[in-house]
Amino acid sequence: MNRWRKEINIFKLDTMFQASNQLILSDETFRELRDFIYKRTGIYFQDNKKYLLEGRIGKRLQVLKIPDYNSYLRLLNTNELMNGEIKYLYDAITINETFFFRNNFQFQALEKAIIPEIVKSRRDNQRGKLRIWSAASSSGEEAYTIAMIYLERLKPQFPNLEIDIVGTDISSSVIETAKNGVYREYSVRNMPQDYFRKYFIKDESRFFLKPDVKKLVRFDILNLYDQSKLRLMRNFDVIFCCNVLIYFDMKSKIQVISDLYNSLNFGGYLFIGYAESLHGISNAFKLVNFPKTVAYKKE
Ligand SMILES: C[S@@+](CC[C@H](N)C(=O)[O-])C[C@H]1O[C@@H](n2cnc3c(N)ncnc32)[C@H](O)[C@@H]1O
Repeated sequence: MNRWRKEINIFKLDTMFQASNQLILSDETFRELRDFIYKRTGIYFQDNKKYLLEGRIGKRLQVLKIPDYNSYLRLLNTNELMNGEIKYLYDAITINETFFFRNNFQFQALEKAIIPEIVKSRRDNQRGKLRIWSAASSSGEEAYTIAMIYLERLKPQFPNLEIDIVGTDISSSVIETAKNGVYREYSVRNMPQDYFRKYFIKDESRFFLKPDVKKLVRFDILNLYDQSKLRLMRNFDVIFCCNVLIYFDMKSKIQVISDLYNSLNFGGYLFIGYAESLHGISNAFKLVNFPKTVAYKKE
């Protein structure tokens, strides 16, 4: 086939898949896709979020050259054990918005009240490193913010304090970005200047996190809805689980929060997103007020 005809064919194929992108996701297939996702992740797409699945999965149809949503659903079901497409599905359906120092009041509470309190309570019975978990870390900005605060503010105050920071997320592509530690303007826009100068190297458009910060954090893929994996996450002093509960329904919120409770040490704290609350989800925690923020304590 000459090059020209080949290009026309590719053009036709692309047009067809663009058109398929505009194919309507039927209510029935939407519900099946929603159930498929919900059973595995706890993420629940309300009826009014159908357009979101349609758009995001539509892009996968295009990439895979699959003509309709039903075939995609069949692919998901047959491929599941091999974990082939699932990872791309999770990348496609998750919303990974985050940035450094996102909720600064939480970090101030951590630095000024919570860590000093935990350090003090530990003095008599040393238990090794202080453990902090950024659950649903997205591309790592939250976990690395904690690492910078440790280097900048906590280490000078508590020279013997050692820290272990873990960041996890269901999406493998954001975990890859987190491990690389290379960011764009958007992520660093809220950074205090002194941190910025000290802990990043900049080229024209990218911001490279320095190795001293990177080496303090470990990242891994983890689905918060997978209870067999959650059972392995134990003995944390502080957990950040911010801006992810909003994607869950009540049942999955209750399950995840109860599992996170078990992951915390007594005396440990849980932070959730600014717009989130544990009202009706758990009364196992004590609500503790800090300047302009709250945290949930396991007593
Ligand atoms: C909006 S981001 C929040 C990032 C960060 N915690 C913050 O507050 O800036 C939500 C993250 O939750 C992750 N997520 C959604 N469902 C999840 C699940 N079942 N298990 C783990 N992570 C999940 C998404 O992949 C996404 O990166």
